[in-house]
Amino acid sequence: KTVYLLNGPNLNMLGKREPGIYGADTLVSIEADCISFGKTIGMTVECRQSNHEGQLIDWIHEAGEKAAGIVFNPGAYTHTSVALHDAIKSVPHVPVVEIHLTNVHAREAFRQKSYISPVAIGVICGFGPLGYQLALRALAERLG
Ligand code: DQA
Repeated sequence: KTVYLLNGPNLNMLGKREPGIYGADTLVSIEADCISFGKTIGMTVECRQSNHEGQLIDWIHEAGEKAAGIVFNPGAYTHTSVALHDAIKSVPHVPVVEIHLTNVHAREAFRQKSYISPVAIGVICGFGPLGYQLALRALAERLG
């Protein structure tokens, strides 16, 4: 099964970006770990990152044709994007697991609201890069 691993804005800066909050791992290394973990559970993980909301929307639509599920860290768009919420609703046959490196509930008030959670099958946050693998496992269970 092919699943998309989508990362949103500023996540290309992992490793350099506020390492005290987001850790030292780069997105490239997180993606490589997800690809090898995916292999162990029979999943092909296709990794993409964009800083642009419209590009993320296009990939969600594309997943509707090409992927069995999505693991999605929407970055700050989590807290602002009705358009990403609607994009996920437009592919109802594609389960989405929302993931955040940090525990967004323990941070600023503006991070408490997610436009993605109501259209996700579940949410993982606060476990750093491990969260991506937990999300892949959850998706694998859901897809059977
Ligand atoms: C994040 C949390 C968001 O609030 C933030 O805007 C990010 C990263 C996380 O992975 O912890 O860019 O999604």
